[in-house]
Amino acid sequence: QDDQFKKVISHAKEYGYVFQSSEIYDGLSAVYDYAQNGAELKKNIRDYWWKAMVQMNENIVGIDAAIFMHPTTWKASGHVDAFNDPLIDNKDSKKRYRADVLIEDYCAKIEAKIDKEVAKAAKRFGDAFNKEEFVSTNGRVVGYQEKINAILSRMAKSLENEDLADVKALIEELEIADPLTGSKNWTDVKQFNLMFGTKLGASAESAMDLYLRPETAQGIFVNFLNVQKTSRQKIPFGIAQTGKAFRNEIVARQFIFRMREFEQMEMQFFIKPGTQVEWYNYWKETRMKWHLSLGMGAENYRFHDHEKLAHYADAAADIEFKFPFGFKELEGIHSRTDFDLKAHEEYSGKKLQYFDHEENKSYTPYVLETSIGLDRMFLAVFSNSLQEEELENGTTRTVLKLPSVLAPVKAAILPLVKKDGLPEVARKIVDELKWDFNIIYDEKDAVGRRYRRQDANGTPFCITVDHDTLIDNTVTIRHRDTMEQQRVKIEELRAIIKQEVDV
Ligand code: GAP
Repeated sequence: QDDQFKKVISHAKEYGYVFQSSEIYDGLSAVYDYAQNGAELKKNIRDYWWKAMVQMNENIVGIDAAIFMHPTTWKASGHVDAFNDPLIDNKDSKKRYRADVLIEDYCAKIEAKIDKEVAKAAKRFGDAFNKEEFVSTNGRVVGYQEKINAILSRMAKSLENEDLADVKALIEELEIADPLTGSKNWTDVKQFNLMFGTKLGASAESAMDLYLRPETAQGIFVNFLNVQKTSRQKIPFGIAQTGKAFRNEIVARQFIFRMREFEQMEMQFFIKPGTQVEWYNYWKETRMKWHLSLGMGAENYRFHDHEKLAHYADAAADIEFKFPFGFKELEGIHSRTDFDLKAHEEYSGKKLQYFDHEENKSYTPYVLETSIGLDRMFLAVFSNSLQEEELENGTTRTVLKLPSVLAPVKAAILPLVKKDGLPEVARKIVDELKWDFNIIYDEKDAVGRRYRRQDANGTPFCITVDHDTLIDNTVTIRHRDTMEQQRVKIEELRAIIKQEVDV
């Protein structure tokens, strides 16, 4: 697993997808830059989301709010008071950890034991194995599960009640050690706010304390009424946006999984109070379908319903994805009630209500939110696509089987040799296709090596121009995943590529 993850990180660098930020200065922790291919992949994921959410839904519109917002926004949203991580320091190693993550990692170890029992039983019982029955009746597994539940619910309760002494007590009772040094010498647990602060204004007296937004959602809430009126939308309707968010994450590890500067793709769906259960289920299902439409394997996704709820939610679930380091949160679906709009009404003194003509009354809508990290989606797609294949001739090839709709480059045009007029014909094909697709031209090295390079780059098609092309206007088109080659007319290329890469 670790090896696979290391391969993902080095492949992302080697093929121009993701670089460490400010690398020449030894980098900045948990901050990354997207390189030439990464920027395209990221844009394609964003577009794929935008199309599904905004373009395909008459009742969802998109906006682009500023990163800077009036500081009272974050007081109203609860982020100033409640957007904290419980931290604990190890007195010997002087390392700082998130207390809840230490406890969750401890539970993950118990869960791994369950997985082992399940795998063992599956092997023993073969076709007759019923996983659900096994996990609900096997004494050992039930015991493990009960232990996990007891630990997590005690932690959730203590955090909710701000009983940080009990969180520390739990860590001590479980004898959790510093993962790096094994020391069990812990400090008290303290809350640490995750927002980055900055200042607006030139002089020290007039400067105003600001925060970099920790979520894009608040830009939607404060614009709710303006958008509703100008778009003439009726409830239920949604507002979507994509954009940067910033969090001073303490556990900044796992590459682009948890970053300090990242991008979110969020949608707030404004609904009639009392209909939230129905919409919660609708959006859970709809968002899962969106993920499955990319063809990355249903077995790689699962729902995780939250017991511990954020300060704004009455129900919440994650869509988890199987990353190289296990199942982890990829997207959240949150039933946010009228928490945010009511809070903004209270703090701003402005009404944020909707007049329902059918009911002939005004009310503060409830909100159903879908929130996905673009960078996390990038990691899901990229890590799932990177494969090493044994070929019939005994060699291996590295291939990045990105969904074609998301691939940065859709086709590479390759003249077989750099002479006899082949480069000119290839250039002409590039000039024709570049209006519709991101295309590259590549004439360096033997054609076999160029194929491998494009496989590793994730390019779905290679189109080779050879001497026959000069006679009959046909080219060879090679498919990345199957390595099959077809002879087709140049005029057919656009339709062939379009069929594969269009949604
Ligand atoms: N508006 C709700 C909200 O922000 P969240 O669960 O805190 O909810 C939503 O974040 C999504 O944003 C997560 O599911 C994850 O994909 C992404 N995300 C959150 N923190 C992140 C980080 N530090 N780095 C990368 N992605 C992050």
